[in-house]
Amino acid sequence: MILAAFAPITWFRAVDRDYGPLNGLDWKARWNQRLDKVFATQILLVGTTADGAIAAAATGTADPEQKLGFVDLLAVDPKHHRSGYGRLMLNAMLDHFSSLGMQHAHLDCLTDNAPGNALYAAEGWSIVASHHHWFKKLSQNES
Ligand SMILES: CC(C)(COP(=O)(O)OP(=O)(O)OC[C@H]1O[C@@H](n2cnc3c(N)ncnc32)[C@H](O)[C@@H]1OP(=O)(O)O)[C@@H](O)C(=O)NCCC(=O)NCCS
Repeated sequence: MILAAFAPITWFRAVDRDYGPLNGLDWKARWNQRLDKVFATQILLVGTTADGAIAAAATGTADPEQKLGFVDLLAVDPKHHRSGYGRLMLNAMLDHFSSLGMQHAHLDCLTDNAPGNALYAAEGWSIVASHHHWFKKLSQNES
């Protein structure tokens, strides 16, 4: 479900388009590696439909020193887009951060992710910085 949600927007796919798989790992394999780490280390909230099917997920981490919560992944099954799950999951994660004593929250979103940016703007988030993902092929190492 998370891969299906991110398929249209992930920059991992842009890398495959321009450079091919990385050491034989295509964007889905790299995403699965990322998800293994996320599931092992982050807070995970799962959203289900009334009949128990997984429809959405949110993950993040809380930094008690800064009292800052980091939302990492927010994904809604494409079948359920525009049904309110994204807003619900985002705010459930913020409620959880608050319950842990966090005072602020951070997330990042690609500038061309119109649905994501619309959601965050509608929920009262503000942009503090923007960044680009730069990529370069290195000259071949002899091994
Ligand atoms: C971004 C995402 C989580 C939104 O989830 P969703 O369940 O479809 O969104 P919701 O139904 O909760 O919509 C909440 C608000 O977000 C905005 N929004 C969501 N999708 C939008 C779209 N396609 N176009 C414009 N605004 C949109 C609207 O303000 C909407 O409120 P409204 O329906 O009252 O107008 C979902 O599109 C998704 O999983 N995308 C792929 C993964 C992703 O981009 N994750 C975020 C990475 S930063």
